[in-house]
Amino acid sequence: MENITNIQVIQNIVYIVSSVMFILGIKMLGKEATAVKGNYLSALAMFSAVGVTCLSLEIDLKIILAGILFGGLIGSIIALKVKMTAIPEMVALFNGFGGLATFLIAWSSFNEPSNSVFQHVLIMLTIYIGGITFSGSLIAYGKLSEKLKLGKGSIITNIFISFFYLSMPALIYVIAEPSISQFVPQVPSYFLIFLGITLIAGIGFVMPIGGGDMPVVISLLNSLSGIAAAFAGLLLLNNVLIVAGSLVGASGLILTIIMAKAMNRTITNILFVGYASSAQSGAAEEQGEVKPITADDAYLILENASSVLVVPGYGMAVAQAQHVVREMGELLEENGTEVKYGIHPVAGRMPGHMNVLLAEANVSYDLLAEPDDVNPSMDTIDVAIVIGANDVVNPSATEEEGSPIYGMPIIEVHNAKTVFVLKRSMSSGFAGVQNPLFFKENTRMLFGDAKESIGQIVAEFKD
Ligand code: TAP
Repeated sequence: MENITNIQVIQNIVYIVSSVMFILGIKMLGKEATAVKGNYLSALAMFSAVGVTCLSLEIDLKIILAGILFGGLIGSIIALKVKMTAIPEMVALFNGFGGLATFLIAWSSFNEPSNSVFQHVLIMLTIYIGGITFSGSLIAYGKLSEKLKLGKGSIITNIFISFFYLSMPALIYVIAEPSISQFVPQVPSYFLIFLGITLIAGIGFVMPIGGGDMPVVISLLNSLSGIAAAFAGLLLLNNVLIVAGSLVGASGLILTIIMAKAMNRTITNILFVGYASSAQSGAAEEQGEVKPITADDAYLILENASSVLVVPGYGMAVAQAQHVVREMGELLEENGTEVKYGIHPVAGRMPGHMNVLLAEANVSYDLLAEPDDVNPSMDTIDVAIVIGANDVVNPSATEEEGSPIYGMPIIEVHNAKTVFVLKRSMSSGFAGVQNPLFFKENTRMLFGDAKESIGQIVAEFKD
């Protein structure tokens, strides 16, 4: 007995230390210089928490070790092989597996004979949130990797959506079931039906959301996985799981609000508006002639420009053009041009994507500006260079009411004196809508891989 108490004391001390390390780790992730150390610190905290939990296991330690080795091996292989551009979809999968773990924990607690009313409610809520997070994250993975094209408006999507709506009364039923079963007939296997509805509901929750709204959904799923973990911690009476889950839940929620603000939308608007509306409008039909330009001609214009705004987007990440972009910026500055970088909060595929890439290439933070900083003086910019960005510079977000991205603030490069758009083809961006910017009088299209195109401009400067 004394032994067990001692172990519990040790566990709780390690849990407190781990929780502090998690908090410090998250804080360190906020700055480029300390981010890597913050990551290691958080990993060490998780390792200590899991290790000390193993001191009081009720099952064979070998099974746990086998699970850790097998899971660790798969995770390491995926993390080593993943391309930088595929990190967002990997994060979506991680959220999903967090949800699945809590779903299974709660499921396994269902048949405990001594469950109190509080534990019963907690089990059902954990199953619900964990299940929706799991299947919703799989759909988010499909959308981010562009393997899943189904959006709102299709019959299949509407069927899944009806399961999402059905899941809410189903949740109320399973929560109330022990007390109402004496008054209303019990649905046979109601619990298994609830498990199924929850998983299908997650698909219906994420499937209709797309285009520019995906960043909000990703951070919401991240937050939900944390909330489900905190609930699972309450079920297992595990303090560190409660703390870690609450940290993820709260930080994910803050990020969700920031992302929704960046899109100029409310969260309810993103999640519930237009569920049954028709398929996306504004899809990629061409809207006139475009004016292509060569790298040589682009160089001649840039050489005479006194102000340049660089607007990077997802294509810069695909091309891994950040280093050559920094080199071009430095050459322009040496030539007497004022250079700034316009960073849209949802450019790329994860929060802060462009900031991370430009920081990796040693572009000074002082040169980065937000849309609100650059838009008012856009008409004074000689050349705006759009590098693999599309949705975040699409004027239909401000001009075309029916557009799926209508209302999203953009970087208004179309108001600059001249715009260069660097991309490989006329294909649309993530939201799947055509961009009228390409057809504007002051726009020149520099077709090709962004790294190669900028490399040519840099070579011209050096000559
Ligand atoms: P997008 O609208 O996705 O456009 C990227 C453009 O890059 C494409 O039009 C593509 O055209 C071009 N491109 C791809 N590879 C290239 C290469 N090697 N060289 C040159 N160009 C290349 O990007 P964005 O403007 O950054 O907007 C981000 C979108 O993703 C928004 O809709 C946003 O809501 C969504 N989203 C963001 C996040 C977060 S948190 N940031 C998460 C999920 C979704 P070509 O194929 O013709 O080259």
